Amino acid sequence: MNYETPLFFRVMEYADAAERDVIDMVSGNPDWEPPEALRAGLRAYADLEPDRFQYPPSEGLLELREEIAARRGVDADQVIVTNGAGEANYLAMARAMERDRGNEIVLTDPVYPYYPGKTTMLGGTQRFVATDGEGQLDPDDVRAAASEETAAIVVNTPNNPTGAVYPAETMRELVAVAEQYDAVLISDEVYDHYDLSGRFASALETDSAHRIVTNAFSKSMAITGVRVGYAILPPELVANAKSRHMLVNVATTRPGQYAVLQALRETGPDYYERNRERLRERVATFTDALDAAGAEYTTPSGSFYVMARFEDYPGTIANVERLIDEAGVAGMPGEAFGDSRTEWLRFALVTPRVEEAAERLAAYFE
Ligand SMILES: Cc1ncc(COP(=O)(O)O)c(C=O)c1O
Repeated sequence: MNYETPLFFRVMEYADAAERDVIDMVSGNPDWEPPEALRAGLRAYADLEPDRFQYPPSEGLLELREEIAARRGVDADQVIVTNGAGEANYLAMARAMERDRGNEIVLTDPVYPYYPGKTTMLGGTQRFVATDGEGQLDPDDVRAAASEETAAIVVNTPNNPTGAVYPAETMRELVAVAEQYDAVLISDEVYDHYDLSGRFASALETDSAHRIVTNAFSKSMAITGVRVGYAILPPELVANAKSRHMLVNVATTRPGQYAVLQALRETGPDYYERNRERLRERVATFTDALDAAGAEYTTPSGSFYVMARFEDYPGTIANVERLIDEAGVAGMPGEAFGDSRTEWLRFALVTPRVEEAAERLAAYFE
């Protein structure tokens, strides 16, 4: 089997090798501070007893699972602490496939490329449903694409790459479609703290044996390198997912879980609000420059990304490399996210140099 290396790595390598100064708008790594309690937790960990350097419970530290469960209104037994949202998505998709109700995974177009990658890895096939120009997903389109073959429907809100936030009605309907076809709705909510619209609705709001929610602290606490996330599964599905997590990973980082727990307990809402406010300012700065450059774009309602289309400059890998060389700005090619945004480029606003990048783009495309 041939797993495709995500295009992401290729662009990063190209940008790193460039002769000139390049502003990185490729990755989804926050450039801001983690919560102070997270740093304090990691520091304190170094001095703990040797037993704290041994295996944690496979499914995660009980206190962390209880803290997550209390916040999300579920039972702690339903929570598996994972190696980021990435592993949580893998567990969820694998669990849906092993129900033997079909091997098709319904995905959106544009799509976060790791979902089709994981689908192939798990021996499934992808079926794509196009979103509209704003990135909104019509549940009727999902219903039309779903069938007896559907193992899972995987969605992401707030969305990478479109910035769309799905309303509560959409989430309810998507759960209903999963129920109708005896499939599983998998809702990846890793950007939930970056809802700029106030309209974010978790799939957890609809109780169902047919939905799994995945999440992580990677983005919300600006710690993509710490690797702590989680999956919330219905009681009927959780046991096998715990076994798979144990067989693949044994467990995830114990110091990371400890520090995240400290940070959850001690970090107030102002930390998250500051991060959203910074993002709002960057969106405004960046989209002003896109206006000046005569580009078409979508203003994100959430997540870190802006998709833009410049005249006669399709979102190919060749054009991304040209933009690195000639403008000193690295983005992602729209073609990495499926067939529907091949004319577009995606820019991640997780750099303090957004204003400079915006000026470079405006000057280049003027
Ligand atoms: C939609 C989406 N899901 C999952 C991930 C991976 O999250 P984690 O680092 O917690 O594994 C990302 C990272 O960019 C993402 O954009």
